[in-house]
Amino acid sequence: MKVPFFRFDGIGEELKRDLNRIIETGRLTRGPFTQQFEEEFKNFLGVEWVKTVNSGTTALYAALRAIDVKDRYVVVPALSFMATVDAVLLAGGKPLVLDVDETYTLDINQLEDALKCYDVKAILPVHLFGNMADMPAINELAQKYGVYVLEDAAQAHGAHYEGVKAGAWGDMAAFSFYATKNVSMGEGGAVAVKNPYLVERVKAILDFGEEPAFNFRLSEFQSAIGLHSLRRLEENTRRRRAIAQRYNESFKDIFGLQKERGYHVYHVYSLRHPQRDLIVKRLQEEGIGTKVYYSYLLHELRDTEHFSTPNAERFRDELFALPIYPSLTEEEVDYVIETLLKIAEGL
Ligand SMILES: Cc1ncc(COP(=O)(O)O)c(C=O)c1O
Repeated sequence: MKVPFFRFDGIGEELKRDLNRIIETGRLTRGPFTQQFEEEFKNFLGVEWVKTVNSGTTALYAALRAIDVKDRYVVVPALSFMATVDAVLLAGGKPLVLDVDETYTLDINQLEDALKCYDVKAILPVHLFGNMADMPAINELAQKYGVYVLEDAAQAHGAHYEGVKAGAWGDMAAFSFYATKNVSMGEGGAVAVKNPYLVERVKAILDFGEEPAFNFRLSEFQSAIGLHSLRRLEENTRRRRAIAQRYNESFKDIFGLQKERGYHVYHVYSLRHPQRDLIVKRLQEEGIGTKVYYSYLLHELRDTEHFSTPNAERFRDELFALPIYPSLTEEEVDYVIETLLKIAEGL
């Protein structure tokens, strides 16, 4: 049996009709699907305003420009996709990299020291793999030290903690709708704004006119695909969580698991093992798609200032991911579990 790491869900009849309608009406951009997506996503999150853009990286960049981080520190976790740190650099900010804890999100123990000792403009927590960062603690410290909070929610559509969704905790949040994301458009992103004061600032960055700007828009086709994906999100998340629960039960005594915080939406299902590279090789030989998230730490990648990062360094060397997506069948999950248990036995 072969189990791919990711499988596209396919396009249903209703979505095909919508895509055809876009072609027939000739309204290819700035039309009703984009407006509808922004409205539904805003209501889903419970924020003040949502604006779609062409990628998650763009969303981070626009949000950072809106709060003007030029020559100021922005706190980021060591373990994330490179866009988290690159957006800070592109916006003229200085990344300050902290360690992560067993949830693979920002280590709160280092945060107060960072805020005390550095001229920080914003904290950029990442809800890694779909698991919530410690937002109550982050918001409390942000308030105490007068800094902005921008959530990187690129992997966390629908995750929540204490009844508040990822993207509705900070002043702003960035989402990605890249092809494999839990809400997908192929490519795409959104800035979600909770702080009403920042709405006009983000508009000034995104709309042509006020300052020199890139074109950050996406097309109606992407919005239509995203809208259908958004409407299936809750059902798809339940399926992802059911698969994660089976994996957790099967692997908890053998592998390191990510400690959950709140409602984890399992964009990525990860495990830890000191012999990660060998396991990855064996899984590939058995036809099971697997990936290493992440083989780098952000301060190593871009040579930025950082605190000591012992946890992130261990995770970088030990983490690997298994297939997890709504169309994964029970037989495929059985095969992944049986195969990985067999591999672990032979180590
Ligand atoms: C944590 C994180 N931040 C930012 C991004 C950037 O999103 P995009 O690929 O849509 O630019 C991604 C996704 O790829 C991500 O996983």
